[in-house]
Amino acid sequence: MQILVIHGPNLNLLGTREPGVYGSRTLAQIDADLKEIAEKAGAKLESFQSNHEGALVDRIQAAGRDGSRFIIINPAAYTHTSVAMRDALAAVGLPFVEVHLSNVHKREAFRHHSYFSALAEGVICGLGAQGYALALQYALSRSESPA
Ligand code: DQA
Repeated sequence: MQILVIHGPNLNLLGTREPGVYGSRTLAQIDADLKEIAEKAGAKLESFQSNHEGALVDRIQAAGRDGSRFIIINPAAYTHTSVAMRDALAAVGLPFVEVHLSNVHKREAFRHHSYFSALAEGVICGLGAQGYALALQYALSRSESPA
């Protein structure tokens, strides 16, 4: 089971970026925890972060060819703007869970709409870094049941 975790723009600043909203864990800590959980379960996990929409589209497209079976994605600000990333996920057709650290529905109106949610298997928001771990737990449990 190969799982890809994708983080969108500004998530490289986790730890110092608005900790009251996004928590104090760094992206490196979050990714290391996820890798450890995946490896203990016998799965492979790779993380990718970019501040560039095209690079994120390229990585999603590559997931369609590199053996990835599941995507966990926090598109960050592109959640609310990126038809291109949504189309890339639709094109590769891999199942994915959308994760947000903050509860976007408690925040500004422009954060309430996601271009991704209608294609996602599920959406987790407002649970901080734990949201990624819960999404991973789902991906791992899903791989145990017959397709
Ligand atoms: C976010 C929520 C987005 O609205 C915001 O632009 C982000 C992070 C979250 O994880 O809560 O950058 O996706």
